Amino acid sequence: MANTNNSNLFASKIGAILAAAGSAVGLGNVWRFPTETGANGGAAFILIYVLFMLLLGVPIMVTEFTIGRHAQSDVTESFYKMSGGKKGWRLMGLFPVVSGILVLSYYAVVAGWTLYYVVEALGNGFAGKEAIDYANDFAAFSSDSVQPVMWTAIIIAMTCCIVALGVQKGIERGAKIMMPMLFVFILVLVGCSLSLPNADKGLTFLLKPDFSKVTSSVCLNAMGQAFFSLSVGIGCLCTYACYFRKDVDLMKDGLSVASIDTLVALLSGFIIFPAVYSIQGLSPDAGPSLVFITLPNVFQQVFGSMPVLAYIFSLVFYLLLVMAALTSSISMLEMSAAYFLKKFKLSRPVSAVIVSAICLVLGTFCSLSFGAWKDVTVFGMGFFDLFDFLVAKFLMPIGGTIMCVFLGWVVDEKVLKAEMTNNGTIKSPLYPAFRFIIRYFAPVCIMLIFANELGLFKWLTE
Ligand code: PHE
Repeated sequence: MANTNNSNLFASKIGAILAAAGSAVGLGNVWRFPTETGANGGAAFILIYVLFMLLLGVPIMVTEFTIGRHAQSDVTESFYKMSGGKKGWRLMGLFPVVSGILVLSYYAVVAGWTLYYVVEALGNGFAGKEAIDYANDFAAFSSDSVQPVMWTAIIIAMTCCIVALGVQKGIERGAKIMMPMLFVFILVLVGCSLSLPNADKGLTFLLKPDFSKVTSSVCLNAMGQAFFSLSVGIGCLCTYACYFRKDVDLMKDGLSVASIDTLVALLSGFIIFPAVYSIQGLSPDAGPSLVFITLPNVFQQVFGSMPVLAYIFSLVFYLLLVMAALTSSISMLEMSAAYFLKKFKLSRPVSAVIVSAICLVLGTFCSLSFGAWKDVTVFGMGFFDLFDFLVAKFLMPIGGTIMCVFLGWVVDEKVLKAEMTNNGTIKSPLYPAFRFIIRYFAPVCIMLIFANELGLFKWLTE
């Protein structure tokens, strides 16, 4: 993916922002954010999440941008080059490979559920059901051993074709139209959801922090969600940044992408939770199935008297969501496929197919962990939860810390300053704060969160 040719650069500054936003905005916002918010008690979790987004997520994103644009190479070479030729830094290249495979394996399961919902919407399968039917139907579907695996396979195959044919740019161009459309749909749905009975209870859950619900794991969960949502810490954005033009303001871009991403996540919360409280028998901590139960219900309740609108709305919404998932899944497959392509001198299609095959096997494990393999656990978690834990709560924070330490301590400060100020042509008022964060705050904060998770501070509260 190294960039040697000017024609590869994003033609406009907005192109660069939108491509990174395409990777960032996806199921992480519409599916994972409400799941985590529900499981971690609501408003207090959101506060901590937004704080981590600003203080850790954005700085690590800018760190990845800086490394990628300066080195103009893939992750392995970027770290090697910028460390002044120290071979050990080449190991950083393992992060995108391992994380790309792990994350795509379980992400494709949820993207597969979304695709199944497109087909359901197409066949008008949501019409005329009681609220609780959606919960029962989803439970039956997701625990099946064949159907969800098949939809996972279709998503992986679609992602593979796009990466193998090298047509990401085309997809990303399409995403430029579809992402704003998704945004408009989300806004309309927020309005719809807020009009449901008992919506105010959902608003209280989202806006009124109840710190008694904050457990010791909330910090790790909020940090994991911030990193996952921004796609940071595993080198994904380094690769994008090597296509950035020299006049892109990296800090401004990082802040813009994070703002779009956080806004989409928060708005998704405003769709889901008012609906949760208006459905009898559903609780906010229902887990990964939450979105798939509440959304069809919102469509039917709000547009129930206008079945055509309910039909069109649910179909277009799930289609847009699949698109958003694909722009993210492409970036995941590309991360690992690019490595195989270079390392073993394979062709693009062959390396994409090999990685996809591995993801399909692992994805099957993840899908089965909702049904037939529910009782198969590793460290107390099923495969789906284990992969999610490994990526969001382990690899991303560790990778992010190493990147911060690398840029803050190993790379010459002149390089950092030159990239942040575009060789002195722009002002970068946040530079001192940014440098402080990557040198001290981020590494220390992430390590403290890990230490807390390992129970090292228990004696303080005893
Ligand atoms: N950020 C993406 C989302 O919110 C997920 C993602 C994770 C994409 C890691 C690339 C790498 O859906």
